[in-house]
Amino acid sequence: MSAHLNGMQALRKEHLYKVLVIGDLGVGKTAIIRRYVHQTYSNNYRATIGVDFALKVLNWDSETVRLQLWDIAGQERFGNMTRVYYREAMGAFIVFDVTRPTTFEAVVKWKEDLDSKLMLANGQSIATVLLANKCDQGRELSNNGIKMDQFCKDHGFIGWFETSAKDNLNIGDAANFLVKHIMATENDILKSVIPDTISPQLHSNKHTSCAECFK
Ligand code: GTP
Ligand code: MG
Repeated sequence: MSAHLNGMQALRKEHLYKVLVIGDLGVGKTAIIRRYVHQTYSNNYRATIGVDFALKVLNWDSETVRLQLWDIAGQERFGNMTRVYYREAMGAFIVFDVTRPTTFEAVVKWKEDLDSKLMLANGQSIATVLLANKCDQGRELSNNGIKMDQFCKDHGFIGWFETSAKDNLNIGDAANFLVKHIMATENDILKSVIPDTISPQLHSNKHTSCAECFK
């Protein structure tokens, strides 16, 4: 029985993705991560210093996804460390606070900072989702949905979600959306690096994170 189980586990595909959570001071990055990873929420605000980390494990049918979430302090946009923090990330959330328009204006600056410092092996920018947080506070964006869709197209976001860390709204959905997109891009990148015609023997050394090796 256990041998059988071990055999089954060996068939699972494992993914480890570094995902950045960025955006201005106090928009709710830490609250979103705490809600998503620990199912907790607090009204108290304590600014993040530098960067914090959290790990979320998703067990899907035959795949395990480990999301390494990098909770980067809002104040870091004015520092020099973001280049270091962004390194090797596969995806990002850029968060703004629907009650503070200046935090929405800053979204473009965060996106530019990200794209200027990081790109994927295929030369594209990493999958980035826009989060309109604190939607429990009113300021419905849904009426503005078309505008938001256009904003995403114009600025290279793969999509946007209204979220509330307080009311636990849409955070899981936004994360699933990002992860699915990262998985699709990962396959594309691997295909461009490893042509389909490559001999299977070349994979016998089991490249790390090579899709061909984990089939
Ligand atoms: P920095 O670490 O300074 O960059 O801020 P942050 O983006 O991590 O903000 P944080 O998560 O600490 O939240 C700031 C404040 O907003 C806290 O008082 C939270 O309780 C509050 N907050 C966060 N998310 C929500 C939300 O969805 N709704 C409401 N009403 N308040 C929220
Ligand atoms: Mg924080």
